[in-house]
Amino acid sequence: MSNSLQHAQELDRHDRLSHFRDQFWIPKKTDGSEQLYFCGNSLGLQPKAAKAAVMKELTAWQELAVEGHFKGQRPWLSYNDVLRGPMAELIGAKPGEVVLMNSLTVNLHLMMISFYRPHGQRRKILIEQQSFPSDRYAVESQIRMHGLDPQECIVEIAPSGDDRIIEESAIEDYLDAHGEEIALVLWPGVQYASGQFFDLTRIAKSAHAAGALCGFDLAHAVGNVPLNLDESDVDFSVWCTYKYLNSGIGAVAGCYVNEQHGESNDLTRLHGWWGNDPKTRFLMEPEFVPASGAEAWALSNPPILAMAPIRAALELFQQAGFASLRKKSVEMTAYLEQLIQTELNDSLEIVTPADPERRGCQLSLRVLAGRDAGRALFEQLEAAGTIPDWREPDVIRVAPIPMYSRFEDCWLFVNQVKGFLGKN
Ligand SMILES: Cc1ncc(COP(=O)(O)O)c(C=O)c1O
Repeated sequence: MSNSLQHAQELDRHDRLSHFRDQFWIPKKTDGSEQLYFCGNSLGLQPKAAKAAVMKELTAWQELAVEGHFKGQRPWLSYNDVLRGPMAELIGAKPGEVVLMNSLTVNLHLMMISFYRPHGQRRKILIEQQSFPSDRYAVESQIRMHGLDPQECIVEIAPSGDDRIIEESAIEDYLDAHGEEIALVLWPGVQYASGQFFDLTRIAKSAHAAGALCGFDLAHAVGNVPLNLDESDVDFSVWCTYKYLNSGIGAVAGCYVNEQHGESNDLTRLHGWWGNDPKTRFLMEPEFVPASGAEAWALSNPPILAMAPIRAALELFQQAGFASLRKKSVEMTAYLEQLIQTELNDSLEIVTPADPERRGCQLSLRVLAGRDAGRALFEQLEAAGTIPDWREPDVIRVAPIPMYSRFEDCWLFVNQVKGFLGKN
């Protein structure tokens, strides 16, 4: 494959999804030219339709006030119902297994209240050693709420070498040997620092074989990699919508509850009126009658102004089709990988697995000269209007996003890195 800029531009010309870039606001550098934005794995860019979507709801509020719940083009009462379908498609689930509410960490707590029920010797939670801090804090505090000691009840699996990759077999081996102590396996879909995409069906299966329940944090997976939660048979999952789903800063998060639990009345669950069956919600009876499926976990009436951008963002996924986005994503990430390998092999190490089945669009890079050189490179890139991100201790994450990134962006990035490392 040619490493020329012309070749990158040729790839963009043949890209059938290239017009979706025009649907997004691309941030500008100080000189007015477009940034090279590789940070959609942290905060997705704003769809141009987001503002209009919010304005429509502000207008509905202005014109309809309380009647906006039932009237207008998008009655607020059924807002979640409209979002559930397209969201369920992205995660391989049924609409009734999905609810949009709160934020990721809040949903993780709500899920652990139901699905972390330590008893007898089965009291531990299995997580990865490098788990995202918020997940760890949530796990620790849930363990404490049961009067238990996190030191004793958190079990961590570490990467076997210094390559930061955890083999699924390590999880299976642990569960084979000690599964009877594990109450819950909590695992990421895509690891935030390494970019590793795990075989989720395998993990849920081994958790269940050990008699444990299983939950996934899909913050870096939804909208990035193909998911089939129903096939994986996981008990619950949580994710945010502000990364690959481009739904806005701190946007309302997603939550999946396997349908086998959705109708259960035996689960411990925190209740609020929005989790009550919609048929009887407004009878204002004292008795809680759970809604069917994931909706039973909802507590409050949904923040429509914060949910409007999700609607706009999911419409773009529907138009593009996730299979096409994934195809482009695999090609574009392989293209970036190939450029790095041929042009920067003696300076950068790619931490993310090489197998496309084991990663999404993100490549995590380490500068071979060490952490300080890596940090310096990151700062030079940022100063030049190129936006990857930095994760301590030493990783530069670069995510070409199929919805709006170009092959040319990848080429320009590598060319810039070469310049900063004195290789041009
Ligand atoms: C993997 C992962 N888990 C949890 C969180 C926390 O999300 P929130 O602040 O929306 O609760 C993040 C945020 O970036 C994340 O990347």
